[in-house]
Amino acid sequence: MKRAEPLRLAVLASGRGSNLQAILDHIRKGTLDARVVAVISNNGNAGALEIARAEGIPAHHWSRRQFDSDEEYEETGLRLLQECGAELVVLAGYMKIVPERIVRAFQHRILNIHPALLPAFGGKGMYGHFVHQAVIDYGCKVTGVTVHLVDAEYDTGPPVLQRCVPVMDDDDAETLAARVLKVEHEIYSEAIQLFAKDRIRIEGRRVKILPKE
Ligand code: GRF
Repeated sequence: MKRAEPLRLAVLASGRGSNLQAILDHIRKGTLDARVVAVISNNGNAGALEIARAEGIPAHHWSRRQFDSDEEYEETGLRLLQECGAELVVLAGYMKIVPERIVRAFQHRILNIHPALLPAFGGKGMYGHFVHQAVIDYGCKVTGVTVHLVDAEYDTGPPVLQRCVPVMDDDDAETLAARVLKVEHEIYSEAIQLFAKDRIRIEGRRVKILPKE
């Protein structure tokens, strides 16, 4: 069935927001049939919140520190996501675990992007520079990008899309990160577009991609 309206995305981000920006660019170019209806960050100074404000997208600071209890924190987060009518939650450089209650409420509707080929070089503490340095220190010849469904742990949900990126002999963590980031900026919107076009079928850990209509 064809959707009449663009897919409603809530983007959760902790940092500079280049993946958010890439998603907005794809939407503008017409290569992604979606609309960012909210940007939420645990970090009040996140570049992602600034990008959202500049685009007129509702920007929310949501952090555990603002609340007395886990319950209040989780309820508020869930309410934010429900009230903006999010159909897909997109983690774009989001450094916090998504509370289990929210994962359950949005089962199979939360995506994350990781700058390596999971399950290698993932898990707690494996983010940003640390990932790319670990790839280089291991001597890998390829690394890549994984877009995956989110469960209540770090980086363990089933992959939706993965793409390889070569590691060059003279790479350092910075040059490798830049090459990987370019791929992130393409593959995340491709993965979201599969949801927008209802081309995803989930069978256990296997996320199957249906052919184009
Ligand atoms: C990206 O490398 C992403 O894979 C990781 O965090 C980084 C976020 O970058 N999860 P940005 O904030 O989107 O620029």
